[in-house]
Amino acid sequence: MPESVSVDALIARRKPGCSLEAPFYTSQAIFDLDLTAIFGRHWIYVGVEPEIAEPGDCVTVDIGRASVIILRDDDMQVRAFHNVCRHRGARLTPAGASTVGNLVCPYHQWTYGLDGRLLFAEHMGREFDTSCHGLKPVHVRSVGGLLFVCLAKEPPSDIDALAAAIEPYIAPHDLRNCKVAHSEDLIELGNWKLTMENNRECYHCVGNHPELTVPLFEYGFGFSPDSLDDNRRVHAERYDALLAESCQRWEGMGLPSREIDRLTDVTGFRTQRLPIDGSGESQTKDTRVASRKILGSLSECSLGGLSFWTQPNSWHHFMSDHIVTFSVLPLSPDRTLLRTRWLVHKDAVEGVDYDLKTLTEVWNATNRQDGDLVAIAQAGAASPAYEPGPYSPHTEGLVEKFCAWYIDRLSAHRGVTAAVEVAA
Ligand code: FES
Ligand SMILES: [Fe+2]
Repeated sequence: MPESVSVDALIARRKPGCSLEAPFYTSQAIFDLDLTAIFGRHWIYVGVEPEIAEPGDCVTVDIGRASVIILRDDDMQVRAFHNVCRHRGARLTPAGASTVGNLVCPYHQWTYGLDGRLLFAEHMGREFDTSCHGLKPVHVRSVGGLLFVCLAKEPPSDIDALAAAIEPYIAPHDLRNCKVAHSEDLIELGNWKLTMENNRECYHCVGNHPELTVPLFEYGFGFSPDSLDDNRRVHAERYDALLAESCQRWEGMGLPSREIDRLTDVTGFRTQRLPIDGSGESQTKDTRVASRKILGSLSECSLGGLSFWTQPNSWHHFMSDHIVTFSVLPLSPDRTLLRTRWLVHKDAVEGVDYDLKTLTEVWNATNRQDGDLVAIAQAGAASPAYEPGPYSPHTEGLVEKFCAWYIDRLSAHRGVTAAVEVAA
């Protein structure tokens, strides 16, 4: 018999400042626990309002075994429902985008309104009460046009604090008046936490991201190395001066830019407007805007990139001309869906105002490179020789904050973790 250990024991002995023990990345039981305690009880970023711009527009997103329909109703409200027919449970809509008048189940044609009420069910007899068989609602919240859902009965209330803090930062980019120019789904061969950990550091950027490190300074992403050669020291000093000068200029223009770090909140997040290298305009290969139509109320191109990270599953970059937004959804212990969307002004015309390749090439390349890194990290974590290794105090502080948040949130759901045992 292989030895086993309880998840509670693994949580209790987690060493701060080190990567997690292997079962957190490899075990089916902990994956199931993550779906229940993390993805079932927190605000999960799933998409953007422009995907459901008109009444009847739906997007269907799978979160673990749950499937959620997010739609725009006839009153222009955003609503979300479990994608489970109240007859015999069939899925009403396939994953992805669709536009409907009503939600009609393909199986026996039970028909639901956009408010979730059951409108029609044939041959159910006189006694049948349609009012008891509406779709089950899911909590949904738009934060400046970013859509978050929560599968819990009682969602974490601090989404209000997150919205109050971040909406002034993102409002000038007017996400609601953008359109999705391109969407890309990438399946990474690793646990969702490795995808998130990789996102929370730029220790790996210089060696792995030749495209991204043209516009992006590695220093804005928790990277403050202790020993620099002369070249990099000059570079880092130039960055520090640019950050101070840019932040002052942007705040003077009415663009909130200062760092907020609330990564330990239940609905944890962090934001900061960061300088871009070169022309300072956008996360493109030549650092210039990729779209000629500037967003919202912005008045110039050179506004750096506003970055916004949330626990447990998203990050976003808002530039003057476009927005890139990332949603991480777990598929299995060693497979994770990374969904990336590029948004431009809704009136921008492809081929006239923007070129799709120019818009997408930096993050498409970066995502592929990150996917390869996540895959080798997963392969290593699954090896018999793996043991938790130390995070760099100078460059991986935000990785530690992610893992500390994760362990803390598991600890907060002791009732769920108590029964779970994994191979030691
Ligand atoms: S399962 Fe939906 S109508 Fe029968
Ligand atoms: Fe990366």
